[in-house]
Amino acid sequence: MTRTLIVNARLVNEGRQFDADLRIGEDGRIAEIGAQLAAAPGETVVDAAGRWLLPGMIDDQVHFREPGLTHKGDVATESAAAVAGGLTSFMDMPNTNPPTLNAAALQAKYDMAAGRAWGNYGFYLGASNDNLADIQQLDPKTAPGIKVFMGASTGNMLVDNPETLDAIFRDAPTPIITHCEDTPTIDATMKAYVEKYGDNLTASMHPDIRSREACLKSSQLAVSLARKHGTRLHVLHISTADELALFTPGPIEGKRITAETCIHFLRFDRADYERLGNLIKCNPSIKDASDREALIRALAEDVIDVLATDHAPHTWEEKQKPYAQAPSGLPLVQYALVAALELVHEGRLPIEKIVHKFAHAPALLFNVAERGFLREGYWADLVLVDDTPFTVKREDVLSKCGWSPFEGTTFRSKIGSTWVNGQQVWDGTKLVGTPQGQRLRFDR
Ligand code: DOR
Repeated sequence: MTRTLIVNARLVNEGRQFDADLRIGEDGRIAEIGAQLAAAPGETVVDAAGRWLLPGMIDDQVHFREPGLTHKGDVATESAAAVAGGLTSFMDMPNTNPPTLNAAALQAKYDMAAGRAWGNYGFYLGASNDNLADIQQLDPKTAPGIKVFMGASTGNMLVDNPETLDAIFRDAPTPIITHCEDTPTIDATMKAYVEKYGDNLTASMHPDIRSREACLKSSQLAVSLARKHGTRLHVLHISTADELALFTPGPIEGKRITAETCIHFLRFDRADYERLGNLIKCNPSIKDASDREALIRALAEDVIDVLATDHAPHTWEEKQKPYAQAPSGLPLVQYALVAALELVHEGRLPIEKIVHKFAHAPALLFNVAERGFLREGYWADLVLVDDTPFTVKREDVLSKCGWSPFEGTTFRSKIGSTWVNGQQVWDGTKLVGTPQGQRLRFDR
């Protein structure tokens, strides 16, 4: 095990920035944070030269596609892209093939990831109209939460039986996380669009077909069920200003109902469909510039608690199909943190807020043990940020799908180094060493 001392860093942690050195112990944990630490014999010294040192980001929503959809991505390729982007832990969705609907499928995913994941991993149990018993019997230490598709999306996992939904909210032994878009509303709008435009549907119609009304109706239902049963509910990928009134401002600690938004809702809006078309087709849809502004404000005001990616790779060929057939979702993990840091450079959000929403908050929400903060004794999942601008090029994309919605975009920050469990895995230009990811532990 390499022993590393990072000196002259600007640490960003728990709401403040300060200059310090950080020692990584032989056990892969943060051994010491302090001023002027002296290098021990044999220690590798990294001079951060005043650059930001952050806890590794924890992405609570990714689709790494394994098992069954590995032509789009797999745990090895997508976690490699994630650590290159400063995301050191991920929680993966159940809409795989087969879907993750019981303890055996969940265990198979943990077995599959062992030794292959570059970042630390957790897997959600999925809900369906008929796996209530599996949900009730779930050992809460084995999954970050239970994913409920309250709107149909990739993978056909819609839960729309009202009695089942009610029982899931009543009995879930972990947080429930929901995809909220009302499917009957979307189907009716789609029908009307097909009648009017026939085969001439385009991606620019996506925000109207997968509409704000569909999001609001479904999120309202989720929040009302959670209030009825006292459920720990986390509503994923909030995309509209309208839904924000459902959530309360304030610290995440103690909240029973929380909200997440995703990086693409903060960097794209309706105007971008003309340029990017199906590449930014996703569910829920990217909506208006006014929604984007409201979401950024909601992060600033702690109405939205968590920032994530919803990384959902599809192949270039799949995305070239006509609008109605092109799958929804986009690859994001590799450039999500640098895209978020643009909000810092623009003076829209302080870096402490990005670190809170993308590292501290998911750790708190899911009771992730010993990660998400720069604290002595915690695992050394670390990101060193370079202040070197770079432009995203297709040949640098590590996701298996081989493209990025950010191609041609210049970011002002770059991920200079990433450590996972104390080992450097990204050196600013390439992966180094071997996959170091461990199974996430949930202290509950
Ligand atoms: O755009 C999306 N893509 N939304 C989802 O809910 C699923 C995801 C996927 O798996 O492709």
